[in-house]
Amino acid sequence: MSNESILTYDSKIKKFFHDNKESLNLFYPGISLQRIENDFQIFCEGNLSRKEEHIDNFLIQLNDGKPLEYITGKAFFYESEFFVNNSVLIPRSETEILVETVVKELKESDKDFMSIVDVGTGSGAILLSICRALDNKPSLVACGIDISECALKVAKRNEYLLKYSLPKHHTISWSLGDRLVDTATDSVDCIVSNPPYIKFHQDKVKVHRQVDSYEPHVALYLDDDSYEEWFDNFFKQVHDCLKNDGLFMMEGHEDHLEDQVEVLKKLNFKEIELIKDYTDRKRFIKARK
Ligand SMILES: C[S@@+](CC[C@H](N)C(=O)[O-])C[C@H]1O[C@@H](n2cnc3c(N)ncnc32)[C@H](O)[C@@H]1O
Repeated sequence: MSNESILTYDSKIKKFFHDNKESLNLFYPGISLQRIENDFQIFCEGNLSRKEEHIDNFLIQLNDGKPLEYITGKAFFYESEFFVNNSVLIPRSETEILVETVVKELKESDKDFMSIVDVGTGSGAILLSICRALDNKPSLVACGIDISECALKVAKRNEYLLKYSLPKHHTISWSLGDRLVDTATDSVDCIVSNPPYIKFHQDKVKVHRQVDSYEPHVALYLDDDSYEEWFDNFFKQVHDCLKNDGLFMMEGHEDHLEDQVEVLKKLNFKEIELIKDYTDRKRFIKARK
């Protein structure tokens, strides 16, 4: 028997961390031994078999640079834990700014009932977090739309996993579709979206190799040539589907948001604001019809 195979899972993690510090840092900048140990515990959760039986599988995936959230199947966002797999984008902490802003706006509304649509819902993290945070009024009729059937399966699973923390007065549904093509005119109080917003060729250089290799391209990229047209159509749909005074908030790319503000102005949106992320970059548009 080799020395390797008689190591405990604990010492295997420590040895792996010290032997691979440099390559680990390429994929997981600043990762600590403690984070890896914690994530291994999460990876083993629900498994009654000995941890020694899972350690090699866990370390192989780590060595490949697979995002920890895909290895454990769990991502933390806003106030909840979400199930994730490689059909959905891993929800990012900056997107919490969108959730926080919209929750504040909806709480300040004097309406008892509101409709909300999340375009490109992915794991459902945005929509479910907003629903969870609105524990009093307004009651929401909430719909998450995605072009990916596999992503919607994940969103539905997250709704199920969060069923005890979601206030009962909301109605949640999921719909397969392209942006807002199936949404009725003048029907929605609030539209939120974190759409794919990276130009496949022009912006790709700034995308981390791990993101490009593991996260679904349909969630990340749009074709350079049709990028502006994609958003022009989307913004027209948003304007059509919102009720008067309806709220729109979208996450976008820092290099393209200023141009997109001009499109919104031409469509007669009002109260248009660019909102910054934690690193002081303009990353969100908020506007009203
Ligand atoms: C950047 S991800 C956002 C996921 C999730 N909302 C979040 O913030 O973590 C973009 C999502 O939009 C979906 N998507 C891409 N093109 C779409 C389209 N034309 N219509 C609807 N959804 C689309 C992708 O499948 C993906 O789930």
